[in-house]
Amino acid sequence: MNDDIFEKYRDAGVLAAKILRSSAQGIRIGASYLDLVESIEVQVKEEGAALAFPLNLSLNEDAAHDTASPGDVRVFTKGDVAKLDLGVQIDGYIADTATTIDLGRNSLLLEASEQALDAAIKVVRPGATAGDLGAAIQKEIECRGYRPISNLTGHGLDRYILHRPPSIPNVGINGGVVLEEGMVFAIEPFATTGSGHVGEKTRKEIYSQVSQKPVRIPAARTILNKVKDRHGLPFARRWLNEKKLDITLPALVRSQVLHVYPVLSDIPGSLVSQHEHTVIVTSEGCIVTTR
Ligand code: CO
Repeated sequence: MNDDIFEKYRDAGVLAAKILRSSAQGIRIGASYLDLVESIEVQVKEEGAALAFPLNLSLNEDAAHDTASPGDVRVFTKGDVAKLDLGVQIDGYIADTATTIDLGRNSLLLEASEQALDAAIKVVRPGATAGDLGAAIQKEIECRGYRPISNLTGHGLDRYILHRPPSIPNVGINGGVVLEEGMVFAIEPFATTGSGHVGEKTRKEIYSQVSQKPVRIPAARTILNKVKDRHGLPFARRWLNEKKLDITLPALVRSQVLHVYPVLSDIPGSLVSQHEHTVIVTSEGCIVTTR
């Protein structure tokens, strides 16, 4: 990796860490989801960077892929376990980081994903396998009496690419990708009081464009025009401010022009915590860009 690219990864990481930390500290019962999400997204742009994906704000049994909807009236409530997952990119080089806010009494649940992340980071070096990281994550979560979410993983990053190999499991598997110097990836353990497995909800707020094939419907063309500067990175329904999104977006998904990211949830009534950092593998270990 040349110095120019390294600096972009590092600057994106420093910025993401700063914004996530300060915004998370400000969350109070009664505060609006929409205000929080918009304030974080605006801060990223004001700093001259761009979003790698819409700010994910997922509550309680929801693990990932929720964000505020247009005109969202929801507010933070006593007992909430709120995951904030922020992706910042500079010239396409991505920093992906997440933290959890506890508005109840779930400090051990939060500790589980946080310590799991720390333990996995300590294992990273050339020659270690993705499975070694998963084993470290599983151990820290299970020893506190929770389950890791086995069907969510950390993921490799590249320019304008949010998900590529290596996949970093949250459970111990045999082998997996052998880590090499220069690899960039996000590690994101999820700890849950539920089943350890997420499924899709009907709620859908986040999309990405996966095909350039031409579309005829004018409303669909307007949407694709608005998201072309995303370079295929995800966008939020909330960003579009168009009429009839409830018809046009599903139509674009059916014609395989858009990919949709439904909210991913563990069983009703469960609680999920998440912590995430982006790392670059070095000759001796790794650099955490988002700390
Ligand atoms: Co991630």
